[in-house]
Amino acid sequence: MFRSLRETSPDIVQVTVNGQPVRVPSGQTVWSALALSGQPVTRKAALSGEDRSAYCAMGVCFECMVEINGEPNQQACLHKVAPDMVITSQNITETTKATNAGL
Ligand code: FES
Repeated sequence: MFRSLRETSPDIVQVTVNGQPVRVPSGQTVWSALALSGQPVTRKAALSGEDRSAYCAMGVCFECMVEINGEPNQQACLHKVAPDMVITSQNITETTKATNAGL
């Protein structure tokens, strides 16, 4: 379904996407790892709960927010994969955001 338009590196990085081990060419983005794993959903919309995924792929729209190594709200389209990286789709609600902000 998805393929890279660039020549991919022969070096492979192993990451975990939502608990599933995924092998990704080095230098690819976290969003590429999600797409290659067959799990392109990055997060649920806070109010409607609808699936969201990368839209602009250049750091502008913030639709691609995921958790990377336990750190929430990371833009999947801007981060490159690293060995043993743990990537998790987010399900942040309005209540979750208030709790994280200490409100
Ligand atoms: S896809 Fe738009 S910021 Fe990542």
